[in-house]
Amino acid sequence: MKSDEQVAYIHTIGCQMNIYDSQRLGAILESCGYKTVFGDNGMDPEQADLVLCNTCSIRHKAEEKAFSFLGRFNAVKQKNPHLITIMAGCVAQQEGENAFSRLPHLNLVLGTQAFARFGQHVQSLQSGKRRICDTQSCEQIFETMADSKKHTESAGQNVSEFVTIMQGCNNFCTYCVVPYVRGREKSRSVTAIVKEVERLVARGVSEITLLGQNVNSYGGDQAGTKFPELLARINEVAGIKRIRFATSHPKDISDELIAAMGKLDKVCKHLHLPVQSGSDRILRKMNRGYTRDLYLSRVRALREICPEIALSTDMIVGFPSETREDFEQTMDLVSQVEYHSLFAFAYSKRSSAPASKFPNQVEESEKRLRLNQLLQFQETISLKKNQETVGQVVDVLIEGKSARGHDGFASRFPGCVQMKGRTQANQVVHFPMSSPEVGELVQIKIEDAYSHSLWGLPITFS
Ligand code: 5AD
Ligand code: SF4
Repeated sequence: MKSDEQVAYIHTIGCQMNIYDSQRLGAILESCGYKTVFGDNGMDPEQADLVLCNTCSIRHKAEEKAFSFLGRFNAVKQKNPHLITIMAGCVAQQEGENAFSRLPHLNLVLGTQAFARFGQHVQSLQSGKRRICDTQSCEQIFETMADSKKHTESAGQNVSEFVTIMQGCNNFCTYCVVPYVRGREKSRSVTAIVKEVERLVARGVSEITLLGQNVNSYGGDQAGTKFPELLARINEVAGIKRIRFATSHPKDISDELIAAMGKLDKVCKHLHLPVQSGSDRILRKMNRGYTRDLYLSRVRALREICPEIALSTDMIVGFPSETREDFEQTMDLVSQVEYHSLFAFAYSKRSSAPASKFPNQVEESEKRLRLNQLLQFQETISLKKNQETVGQVVDVLIEGKSARGHDGFASRFPGCVQMKGRTQANQVVHFPMSSPEVGELVQIKIEDAYSHSLWGLPITFS
């Protein structure tokens, strides 16, 4: 793919916030003259002029992925010394100069705290500088309103986009690296957020997911606009069809937010409410700031105001000193709440987080056992939740074509295309349509349920 144009290849590991940050780092690379290519599009990164890996350090495995992705460029650089290699994000923030000892070829180590200075560093690299490390914290919030070509090229195709509303976290859960690599909470201004949402909607985006480690402590201007008010402002943006947000900390979920979810029509009736454990003893050791009873009472309040609300959660198994009894408490909580979906992780020791020094670390084999038991149990609940929708008419936001056709699709639905979309509860639905319009909402009557998806027909078919 060599031409006069310089190509920057961007590989992202980790969460939605990292995907969002990569888009912004890409916009800066474009303003410095690069054409950006985002991973998974089939291009060989070894052919690029610049390779950036935006890294994640939440668990050991993610960190190892970053070192292994970037490791291969040691050899590539022997052949192509002009190639620029960059480690950005959480692992860069955590490792700083140490990253050079494992990856001597790196030209830039750019921590999450230093993103605002990325443009400056790219210019230094372009004028020949070969080794820069920046993990210095910066008061300025990382703002780029510049349009990235990735966005422009896909205008109207991306049904859903992320918008970060705040960075960092003040909570210091004892297992978690986020406060150390992302710093303290900083909220973006209401004006910057609303402008960005309007810009995305004007490009044809239908759904916005607002991102923050703890959106409930959002306070984004002099007047201290709170999160429910921000939601109300975004709900008024003309043309927006759906609003989602993540993550809400159970200790901070306010009555105002619950009320806003009940009343704002664009806000999906779905809440991601990570509980992490069902045992009070473990919750205390995790420094989560709530008890099992408090969590369950928030769930009841939510369901009173908004009976159709779907809940999802994150769970950690095998936290230091977690016994079988503690784990049974977790299983019991899952059976009481009946989440639509659940993300479960085996506890991963992170040296910068205090729990790495806690006594009675759990054996890896025991963590795996608990993880599998929890995931299998959740499968049965997800299937039950999906089965409850059979016969109902649900709003589905059309995302695109399904990868695989339903049994006998072509003969049953001649002239139709099999499409997929999502319900407000984030369930994937497959359905036939004769003139599908990606990004539109369509009403689908659910006919069949599986543990990971639903099948239905548009109501216009009956
Ligand atoms: N080990 C395992 N899972 C973790 N998470 C955060 N830190 C760790 C860790 N050290 C999980 C939590 C969090 C999600 C994003 O990642 O469940 O909610
Ligand atoms: Fe990590 Fe806890 Fe902050 Fe979530 S709330 S990012 S788990 S420290």
